[in-house]
Amino acid sequence: MYKVAVINGDGIGPEIVKEAIKILNKVAAKYNHNFEFKEVLMGGIAIDKTGSPLPEETLEVCKQSDAVLMGAIGGPKWDTTDSDKPRPEQGLLGIRKGLELYANLRPVKVFEALIDSSTLKKDIISGIDIIVVRELTGGIYFGARAREKDRAYDTCDYSRYEIERIVKLAFDLSLKRRRVVHSVDKANVLESSRLWREVAIEAAKDYTQVELVHQLVDNTAMQLIRNPKQFDVIVTENMFGDILSDEAAMLTGSLGMLPSASMGTGKVSLYEPCHGSAPDIAGEGIANPLATILSAALMLRYSFNLEKEALAVEKSVEQVLNKGYRTKDIMEEDKTLVSTEEMGTLVAENV
Ligand code: IPM
Ligand code: MG
Repeated sequence: MYKVAVINGDGIGPEIVKEAIKILNKVAAKYNHNFEFKEVLMGGIAIDKTGSPLPEETLEVCKQSDAVLMGAIGGPKWDTTDSDKPRPEQGLLGIRKGLELYANLRPVKVFEALIDSSTLKKDIISGIDIIVVRELTGGIYFGARAREKDRAYDTCDYSRYEIERIVKLAFDLSLKRRRVVHSVDKANVLESSRLWREVAIEAAKDYTQVELVHQLVDNTAMQLIRNPKQFDVIVTENMFGDILSDEAAMLTGSLGMLPSASMGTGKVSLYEPCHGSAPDIAGEGIANPLATILSAALMLRYSFNLEKEALAVEKSVEQVLNKGYRTKDIMEEDKTLVSTEEMGTLVAENV
């Protein structure tokens, strides 16, 4: 039996998670597995119900589980510039830190069926297969910060150890891929980036089969649009990874397609779509559940070692798209518009 902690979160979170669970239940029935789901509170809804974006019980349940499946969190209701007020995002950052999920994997692949919904030219994006490896528990997200009257600062702080483990993870990943790693930094300006580069060069000595390319983050932002096919594995610090992965996601046409896996020192990993909680369309039944469904596939692969099952889900998504079914965000002429729930059912039936 696999124990899965489920964080619905806010906005479209509950709708998309429901569809991912539908798919996991289908996988359970078809391949004879048993998933036990336990819902826990995090984000805005947790603030409303308990006063805290990450109640102690939530972290405890997650730690006792085999994996965590998450929707999305946040919304205008909890937006504030008052640093004394709780924010939904603190829940997510707290869970990443609490489970020591230092590596965030964001695979970017283009579905041929969706190639026309990208804003880029077909021949630029056709066949891209990139994985962004984002450091997730360090850097400016967690460094010292303060507000003093009319001044404020956030610090980008990295230790050799933190850089080494994420860079090595990227090298290891690349061994099963095309063996090119782009290490992205801002070493022409930032001291933390100079340490990053130094550690990357050192780590590379154990991976002589892998080509290591250092790239400045502003250049990477440009290269992703100019010639995305040059990339295989991109490894970078927390905030650069946050920004670049949104950009990379749009190569595929919609942020609604991009899954992610966050893993770390312990056995519990967390799976969530890269997109946010889209409060503007919450409850309308039009959200795209595919990024969450694909995140569930990553859970099958990485946490439970169920490769065949993961592939079955990914194939099913591809086939449903090939048949012309689309949620609103990826809708094109001549295609069949379906709701969040219908999309989930189609993918489940097709597994
Ligand atoms: C992401 C999100 C989060 C981040 C927010 C919600 C805190 O943008 O997972 O990319 O910045 O890490
Ligand atoms: Mg982000």
